[in-house]
Amino acid sequence: MATSATFSCWMILGLVLAIGNIVDPADARAFFVFGDSLVDNGNNNFLATTARADSPPYGIDYPTHRATGRFSNGLNIPDLISQQLGTESTLPYLSPQLTGQKLLVGANFASAGIGILNDTGVQFLNIIRMYRQLEYFQEYQQRVLDIIGSQETVRLVNEALVLITCGGNDFVNNYYLVPNSVRSRQFALPDYVKYLISEYQKLLQKLYELGARRVLVTGTGALGCVPAELAQRGTNGGCSAELQRAAALYNPQLVEMIRNLNNEIGRDVFIAANTQEMSRNFITDPQAFGFTTSRIACCGQGPFNGIGLCTPLSNLCPNRDLYAFWDAFHPSEKANKIIVQQIMSGSTDHMNPMNLSTILALDSIN
Ligand SMILES: *[C@@H]1O[C@H](CO)[C@@H](O)[C@H](O)[C@H]1NC(C)=O
Ligand SMILES: *[C@@H]1O[C@H](CO)[C@@H](O)[C@H](O)[C@H]1NC(C)=O
Repeated sequence: MATSATFSCWMILGLVLAIGNIVDPADARAFFVFGDSLVDNGNNNFLATTARADSPPYGIDYPTHRATGRFSNGLNIPDLISQQLGTESTLPYLSPQLTGQKLLVGANFASAGIGILNDTGVQFLNIIRMYRQLEYFQEYQQRVLDIIGSQETVRLVNEALVLITCGGNDFVNNYYLVPNSVRSRQFALPDYVKYLISEYQKLLQKLYELGARRVLVTGTGALGCVPAELAQRGTNGGCSAELQRAAALYNPQLVEMIRNLNNEIGRDVFIAANTQEMSRNFITDPQAFGFTTSRIACCGQGPFNGIGLCTPLSNLCPNRDLYAFWDAFHPSEKANKIIVQQIMSGSTDHMNPMNLSTILALDSIN
């Protein structure tokens, strides 16, 4: 009940902030998104890859009711953050529609299947790995420079909000993909986590060099509790203990790395979003958040609807708002809304060193 009451407060606060937050498009801040399927707005639609969400029932609750490449029944986390910024959703960087003034809204470089490491997601073939996403960001800046000049481009990038979400695939689509994977033979889990964190740090430093000054960095979520892992690796019908151990090692070290980076830079550029904590809330007490289940995916087949892909032939739940998970790995739009409310107004347990509403307030003064 305590969780429920806190959550209602956040919702009201979020609503107030959202209403007070309708911005003149000319003053709106740009938004850039990097990462994996949790934040891909459709880049993979343009690639020869099996990691895609461009057919029904994906998008069933999206405004157009069409599949867009988002791994959600409706809106995803970047869409909901754009709403908070008072701007339209960012277009996928590979979209032919991303030209002219649209470029000034920002861009989404994310690609389903990628991880921190270059060798994560190789089974998906042609995906945009992190280093390539950063190269595209450079190319983007060159294109914007041709429209508004170099000084304004630097300002647009410095003042932008950035979201980066990756790391989950380095576990599920690399280390734990097959028994005795190359990485699991190379590293014991604690050493692998250290390696991931040190590689992630390089990516964040590169993002800073490219001009990013406000970057939300999400952790991995409760990796072992997604329907796919309940189905394949669940321990006594519960979450996968091994993947929960991975998340428990990874997330605190990510927060620590971010704190050190900020200390080195001398300001709070990177903000850690504790998505593990955010999703734990609705995974342990789904009813408090209005879900009937956080174990069974809305779309899928097999135990927990957690086996294989979500396709037109899969089981599909009639009311997506009652499910925390849309498919075997990805939260429903409703769960994404809860996560974004916590990003906006969560306490320091969820957002460290500060939540997004504080960032927006701070940056509007400067
Ligand atoms: C990953 O690839 C990029 C370029 O494609 C390279 O610069 C980087 O060193 C690679 N990382 C590792 C750990 O091999
Ligand atoms: C959001 O951050 C501000 C500043 O840190 C804090 O005062 C506020 O309480 C936070 N929101 C919640 C709901 O904790």
